[in-house]
Amino acid sequence: MPMIAWSNQFSVGVQEVDKQHQVLVGILNRLGVALDAQDSHFDNRKVIDEMVQYTVYHFGTEERLMREISYAGIDRHIGEHQSFVKKVSQLVAQVDQGQGPSLVELLLFLRDWLVSHILNSDRDMGDALNLAGIR
Ligand SMILES: [Fe+2]
Repeated sequence: MPMIAWSNQFSVGVQEVDKQHQVLVGILNRLGVALDAQDSHFDNRKVIDEMVQYTVYHFGTEERLMREISYAGIDRHIGEHQSFVKKVSQLVAQVDQGQGPSLVELLLFLRDWLVSHILNSDRDMGDALNLAGIR
């Protein structure tokens, strides 16, 4: 599983958001390494829970910042967060029941969604926050 190498291209220009994105990337990379190594001592399921919990916390931060500046795109952005959380809980439930995606497929979905969300919606949000003086 190729790791996500953090670089400035992922920066949305707001320190608090960038820091949290780095934590998320770190959790994803940790999971990727463990899945590749098929490390039986590594509790994948626990790390996925950690990832989901941290994601929910992180979305809360973004939503608070968007509210602070009455961001025009807030409803659409929150909608993306909500459908992601819903989709992930469905996938995790399927994994738990031994149906649906493998952990690797789940991880790939998390990774691809996160990268594209950061590069598109979060970057737009970051531009608006920067214009309002938040960095
Ligand atoms: Fe976001």
